[in-house]
Amino acid sequence: MANVSIIVNGETRAASVPPETTLLRLLRDNFNLTGAKLGCDVGDCGACTVIVDGKPVNACLMLAGQADGREVLTIEGLASMDRLHPIQKAFEDHASLQCGFCGPGVILSAKALLDEIPDPTAQQIRNALAGNLCRCTGYTKMIEAIQEAARNLRDKFSV
Ligand code: FES
Ligand code: FES
Repeated sequence: MANVSIIVNGETRAASVPPETTLLRLLRDNFNLTGAKLGCDVGDCGACTVIVDGKPVNACLMLAGQADGREVLTIEGLASMDRLHPIQKAFEDHASLQCGFCGPGVILSAKALLDEIPDPTAQQIRNALAGNLCRCTGYTKMIEAIQEAARNLRDKFSV
């Protein structure tokens, strides 16, 4: 067994798991954080996307042990108790999701993008979502929502 301790959504969580356990399984099965979805389990769909030390990663491709000591943000850590994150709010306002299965991964990919590039072009947004497959939408409303969230976040942090 491998002892793993990670900082998830600002809280230190620890578990003892078989060494082949992925970060996705650790989050879902040990920590009951089921926002990151198990889609393909081979790195193709992006449904399992979480942010590790500021970068989006496919949690199905990272071993839990590789995340030891690192900071992980999942969709559960994005909103505050009573308020959606501006990206989530923009997705709601634009009706950007249908079944929603891809949503947590898409939104976290968008967050990682906006943290790095506060004013991305539509092409940069498309590139950031390239690893997130959505079977329901045409991505257009997602891109519009991310552009609006970017504007709102810039307004919020400008003086
Ligand atoms: S479940 Fe990880 S990329 Fe599909
Ligand atoms: S909204 Fe259904 S997979 Fe994206």
